[in-house]
Amino acid sequence: MSEVMRNFPNEFLWGGAIAANQVEGAWNIDGKGISTADIATYKKNLSKGDYAKHNAVDEQQIKDAMASVSTDEYPKRRGIDFYHRYKDDVALMGQLGIKALRFSIAWTRIYPHGDETQPNEAGLAYYDRLIDALIEQNITPVVTLSHYEMPMHLVNKYGGWSSRQVVGFFERLCVTLFERYKEKVKYWITFNEIDSIVRHPFSSGGIIPHRFENVEQAVYDGLHHQFIASAIAVKHCKEIIPDAQIGCMLTSLLTYPHTCNPDDVFAAHWNNQFNYFFTDVQVRGAYPKYIQRYFNDKGIEIKLEEGDEALLYNNTVDFISFSYYNSFVTSADSEGLETVSGNTMGGIKNPYLPVSEWGWQIDPLGLRIALNNLYSRYQKPLFIVENGLGAYDKVEDDGSIIDDYRIQYLRAHIEQMHEAILDGVELMGYTLWGIIDLISYSSSEMEKRYGLIYVDQDNDGNGTLERKVKKSFSWYKNVIEDNGL
Ligand code: BG6
Repeated sequence: MSEVMRNFPNEFLWGGAIAANQVEGAWNIDGKGISTADIATYKKNLSKGDYAKHNAVDEQQIKDAMASVSTDEYPKRRGIDFYHRYKDDVALMGQLGIKALRFSIAWTRIYPHGDETQPNEAGLAYYDRLIDALIEQNITPVVTLSHYEMPMHLVNKYGGWSSRQVVGFFERLCVTLFERYKEKVKYWITFNEIDSIVRHPFSSGGIIPHRFENVEQAVYDGLHHQFIASAIAVKHCKEIIPDAQIGCMLTSLLTYPHTCNPDDVFAAHWNNQFNYFFTDVQVRGAYPKYIQRYFNDKGIEIKLEEGDEALLYNNTVDFISFSYYNSFVTSADSEGLETVSGNTMGGIKNPYLPVSEWGWQIDPLGLRIALNNLYSRYQKPLFIVENGLGAYDKVEDDGSIIDDYRIQYLRAHIEQMHEAILDGVELMGYTLWGIIDLISYSSSEMEKRYGLIYVDQDNDGNGTLERKVKKSFSWYKNVIEDNGL
């Protein structure tokens, strides 16, 4: 019998995670093109869990946004000015002692419109500087190739990922990045939360629902194109950087049944199986049979081109990365049941779990379950690339930020990671989300803070942007120094 790992492995990647569109700002600097994230509005007073409205896009909004230079209405345009402050921020991360930073590269910095044949040198030069700064601090770069942004030009001209042509443009981006950073970047992730295109077609796939007669078909076309693009990225990555590891990325949507009524149990089973559909394709290399029935029932047709099946089969990922914030509850009949929100979707309230200030259910044991489920299904290394607590933080009179609630959340999740390792799960690393406060993906708020580093900026963009360390900063530093124990 092989030995069970007792502790976190020595080479465990303790780290933090950010995404270009939520931190960089500098949305129109150095040749950057306009992206889908640059037109996401901050909707004041909108209910925190109302994802449908947060992610809605209409023609007027697109027209206004394309013509506007406002950063107030579109907070992701200003981010936290990481573009100009990356050096100091990375130095702080170095002090924190993180071993890895997961960040994404903005497509629009490299190919501003997406369909150019030559990359924008200024964009590449920026990521040269960022990667060098990380390496200088002994922080391993983990690069996400696509994290909730694509050029608006590809949306308007081609229909976003619904178009097969976009695969070729993305392939060009990937090759450019692999060639440029082959000596320095050995960990890559293809699409952030690839499953979310079915819930948020615009932010994940550049698909504007009302522009399509059959939106569902357009979404699954987009998803198929992302699967193909992901396999192509794996192929090039292996050829160009043979010693690199490249993974897929999933939103873990672990779902429990509301009751032990088999109807509820089946509803939860289906949700979990549907969540695995995305990893099944990228890890096992083929569309699973159960999804065929779903597609038949819905009249969805996956347009496989010659060579697609072989491409998917021959280019599976090395590891599975995923985000985990909360678990969900479902029922066969949810009529009248109290609901809560959660990461990228909502569900039924679980009476056994506390909720965050944004109504997300806090369930550390769920992380152990998710890790065990994924590992027993695939036996592939797992990498938690997002987990954290979005909360309001208060700066005390003496300037300190006592975020004990965040420490409690993180500690409870890290304990369950350790349990999962004892269960035999192979876990590569943990990059907690929003190591530094950033603009929220769903609502474009600033005051939903995840960071261990505070950024002085409010929802309206007021503030000095000064950085301060929170109590959780020194706590996590100790966790890393003690390798999780
Ligand atoms: C994940 C995204 O879904 O959740 C991140 O990959 C996002 O981009 C994170 O920021 C937290 O969500 P939110 O909406 O609280 O920012």
